[in-house]
Amino acid sequence: MMFRVLLAALACSLPVGTGLRAEEPEVKQEELTELGEQMELMSSAFRRLRRQAAEPAYNESSVELVAVIRTAATAAKTLAPGKAAELPEGERAEFFAAYRARMDEVIAKLDGLLAALRSGDNPAAVKLVAELAALQKAGHREFRKRERD
Ligand code: HEM
Repeated sequence: MMFRVLLAALACSLPVGTGLRAEEPEVKQEELTELGEQMELMSSAFRRLRRQAAEPAYNESSVELVAVIRTAATAAKTLAPGKAAELPEGERAEFFAAYRARMDEVIAKLDGLLAALRSGDNPAAVKLVAELAALQKAGHREFRKRERD
C-alpha cells in the first residue's frame, strides 16, 4: 500500500519537476574562441606530457604529444588573443608581434624537446617541460584577459 502511495506521489511529481526545469534559465557553456580551442588541445597533451616526460619507456608517446602541442601552437600563433580587442588600436600591432614572438619561443622549446626525447635524454626533456610551463604562465599573464587567470 505504502509502495503504491509512493509511486503515485512520484508520478505526480514528475511532470511538475520537468516543467520547472524547462522554465529555468539555460546555463550557457562559455564559448571557446578559436584560440581557446587550440589552447585546450595544447593543455590536455601537455598535462599528459608532464606526467611522463621523465620516463624513457614513454618517449615514443611523448614525441607524439609534443607533435600535437607543436601543431596547436603553430595554429595559435596565427590567431589573435581576445585581449587585443580591449587595447587601443595603436597598441594592437605591437601586442600581436610580442604574442607571436612568445609563441615562437614555445615552438623552439618544443623542437628542443623533440630532439631530447628522440635521443633519449630524459633529464633534458624534463627541464624543457619545466621551461614550457614557465612560458605558459608568463604568456597567460601577458596576453590573456585578466579575469581568465
Ligand atoms: C604549454 C603551453 C600552454 C598551454 C598548455 C596553454 C593552455 C591554455 C588554456 C587551457 C587556455 C584556456 C582556453 C579557454 O578555455 O579559453 C589558454 C588560454 C589562452 N592562452 Fe594559453 N597555454 C599555453 C601557452 C600559452 C602561451 C605561451 C601564450 C602566449 C604567448 C598563451 C596565450 C593564451 C591566451 C591569449 C589565452 C586566452 C584565449 C583567448 O584570448 O581567446 N598560452 N591557454
